[in-house]
Amino acid sequence: MKGKVVGDILVIKRDVEDPETLLEIPGVKRVVKLGRIRGLKREPEVDVIVGEGTETIHKENHCLFKLDVSRIMWSKGNTTERKRIASIVQKGETVVDLFAGIGYFSIPIAVHSPVEKIYSVEINPTAHGYLCQNIELNKVSDIIQPLFGDCRDLAPRGVADRVLMGYIGNTHHYLDVALEALNDDGGVIHYHESVPDKLKFIRPVERIKEAADGHDVEILNRRVIKKYSPGVYHVVVDALVK
Ligand SMILES: C[S@@+](CC[C@H](N)C(=O)[O-])C[C@H]1O[C@@H](n2cnc3c(N)ncnc32)[C@H](O)[C@@H]1O
Repeated sequence: MKGKVVGDILVIKRDVEDPETLLEIPGVKRVVKLGRIRGLKREPEVDVIVGEGTETIHKENHCLFKLDVSRIMWSKGNTTERKRIASIVQKGETVVDLFAGIGYFSIPIAVHSPVEKIYSVEINPTAHGYLCQNIELNKVSDIIQPLFGDCRDLAPRGVADRVLMGYIGNTHHYLDVALEALNDDGGVIHYHESVPDKLKFIRPVERIKEAADGHDVEILNRRVIKKYSPGVYHVVVDALVK
């Protein structure tokens, strides 16, 4: 059976003959069929096939993520990255999460690392609403400050030891915001991009260096997060900018 389990919901992409049998899968209480993803907000079309409702709480790495599968994407392919980032944040750091979503990175960092403060910016009201609920659910309201709006307007400047750019699209248009968010001693930018195979790691590094004009850039790490589309990869580059 092709599909992914998000909380207690099995999300499938194709019709199945006897969907009730899917409830035999451990943890599955509801089944929804995901259609095309439409519009600027990239909200999926969803049919509820078994059970009622599309809101659930997904558990991953001892963190709770409340979301509505009809309005918010959950990417299993980003699990390793969520764990990796939470494991490298050092004691006392200030983190700025420019594209926070429902707290995909902010929540695991707050739960698992010795971080001091996280500013989590999100422009989509639905995602921001779940971010606020997830901060409460995970009891990290003393650590995470949610900010609702465009990161270009709202991201705090001159404070960050680490900036997360977990968004693919025109991420490079926000490199100036990330650089301004870093404190005077500099810090690490986790820069995400969707990039054709041949340019994997070449173009992202070039873009970071170009934006950091005049600053030292040391590439600490680069990794493929997942295949995005045929011949295109979602990659992340960790760059220390001084
Ligand atoms: C697909 S999510 C990714 C979340 C998470 N960082 C990850 O990589 O798993 C990207 C989020 O960035 C938000 N976003 C896009 N442009 C933004 C902007 N200019 N300012 C703040 N948030 C933005 C979107 O609404 C979306 O929730």
